[in-house]
Amino acid sequence: MPTTYTYLGHGTHLVHTGGHNILIDPFLDNNPSAPLKAAEVAADFILVSHGHNDHIADAVAIAQRTGAPCYGNAKVAAWLKAQGAPETKNLYFGGRQQLPFGEVMLTLAFHGSSLPDGSDGGSPGGLLITAAEDGKCLYFACDTALFGDMALYGEEGLDLAVLPIGGHFTMGPKDALRAVKLLNPKHVVPCHYNTFPVVQQDAEAWAAAVTAQTSATPHLLKPGESLTL
Ligand code: NI
Ligand code: MN
Repeated sequence: MPTTYTYLGHGTHLVHTGGHNILIDPFLDNNPSAPLKAAEVAADFILVSHGHNDHIADAVAIAQRTGAPCYGNAKVAAWLKAQGAPETKNLYFGGRQQLPFGEVMLTLAFHGSSLPDGSDGGSPGGLLITAAEDGKCLYFACDTALFGDMALYGEEGLDLAVLPIGGHFTMGPKDALRAVKLLNPKHVVPCHYNTFPVVQQDAEAWAAAVTAQTSATPHLLKPGESLTL
């Protein structure tokens, strides 16, 4: 089965590859755009990009139910452990770790990372995942501003880039379009928009600009929809 990406609304993502479910930034129960609840989602691995509630809210509950190990930077991992996650592992910027489903690397991100209780969540990150099953390379910018070193991640040869376009907290449509030009992915999916009024955006107009100005194929996935790579 080829690697499949499923958008779960806002900044929550599921990658299915090699029989593994990799859940990224679980925020489901209080996410008005989520197609399912934390009690329903499949997870064999949980990856957390930063400490904000809209990325970490349901991680512990899902980890306790599924037994999935949680991965994040050292402060995020320690916080998840203290909240009751059964198994946590640290990710480090630029360090490529070989996991059962493939390779994972924590990438740069320019954003905040305070944890739900106000404590320091360390530096926020993005995620670069290379599937062991079929070599597909997926980049999740997660919450970030535009930065020029996205071009370095683009050199990996990206099959999919998942980028925030909501603005206000992260890059908006204009900078996300510039990000597509730096990343040069085959496919691009926008996220982190239309969840709340403050991140309302015209995704159709953005996708049209991507099509007109880049070689990437944009996919406007509704929460719950999947893209087979
Ligand atoms: Ni955030
Ligand atoms: Mn966010």
